[in-house]
Amino acid sequence: ANSLKPVQELVEDGVVPEKYIQQFEDDSQVGDSPLPFMDGPTIDFSLLLSSNQEELAKLRNALSSWGCFQLVNHGMTIELLDEVREMSKQFFKLPLDEKEKYSSVGDSLEGYGNDNVIRQGNFNWNDKLHLQVYPEHKRQLQYWPHIPQHFSTTLDEYSVKTKEVSETLLKAMSRSLNLEENRFFELWGDDKEDIIHARFNFYPRCPSAKQVVGLKAHTDGSAITVLLQDKEVEGLQVLKDAQWFRVPIIPQALVIHVADQLEIASNGIFKSPVHKVVINPQCDRISIAMLPIPNSEKEIGPLKELITKERPQLFKRLNNYGHVYFKYMATMERQIDAVRIN
Ligand code: SIN
Ligand code: FE2
Repeated sequence: ANSLKPVQELVEDGVVPEKYIQQFEDDSQVGDSPLPFMDGPTIDFSLLLSSNQEELAKLRNALSSWGCFQLVNHGMTIELLDEVREMSKQFFKLPLDEKEKYSSVGDSLEGYGNDNVIRQGNFNWNDKLHLQVYPEHKRQLQYWPHIPQHFSTTLDEYSVKTKEVSETLLKAMSRSLNLEENRFFELWGDDKEDIIHARFNFYPRCPSAKQVVGLKAHTDGSAITVLLQDKEVEGLQVLKDAQWFRVPIIPQALVIHVADQLEIASNGIFKSPVHKVVINPQCDRISIAMLPIPNSEKEIGPLKELITKERPQLFKRLNNYGHVYFKYMATMERQIDAVRIN
């Protein structure tokens, strides 16, 4: 039962339980030389809005090589981003019995807790608060914190903005491949039943930081991921050409990932990047991931325009991928390979 304790509480205990000690296959985590920073592009949202051809080409290159990029000039104020970061920190700082008012009930994905309950293998050094923000009528408000007091209104505002940014991004992504601009967007977003999940991550500091992992290597099961990183504490790494890179902190930027469903819809042209989170020995880290996924009526498969003789269909068509995936979040490095043809 000890393993189901919030990871944050383990820090107070001062010992790292065996289940959290990782056997790493490479030395990216234990090596002494610091890893290189990712040198992928920073994309200017305002130029995507105006359909700047150079920026669209930059976007296409980023999505098919790194599978992620830093997004700037997205129209969200630094005050809003800081407020979202601050309220996340405040929530995880609350006394345990206060946070436990929002604990996941039964096998609910939503609420406060961690994924370790359902994990096979070693555990992640991560606690989370998971809330579905869209469609609005599906919000389970019993899981929405009352402290800090503005949590719900700020999350609501951030959700509205995230939806707008996601819409523009998905349209620009279609245009970057010379497709009709709604092709990706109509899969996730033009329907009032489409879904966005919010996942607030807390990565407690750990004296044996190099022996644990915040989130094991995985790809995201959503369409895209809109990630707000901690402003001071680094931790996110992405894999490219078998090499790990650190994702730098740009306080005013959002990190955008291609996630599995966009890799599938683009028939493999865009890459859903394998990423992981490492732990800092002295400082706690937070991040907030916003995850658009299609509603359960929608079928996801490679767009027919992107299936050619040169590029045959790479993935099966399927329903409800996101829902299935979330249950097993980060239990498998490339879950998308399970739906690959051949
Ligand atoms: C994630 O893997 O989605 C979270 C990444 C992070 O905490 O930076
Ligand atoms: Fe992720």
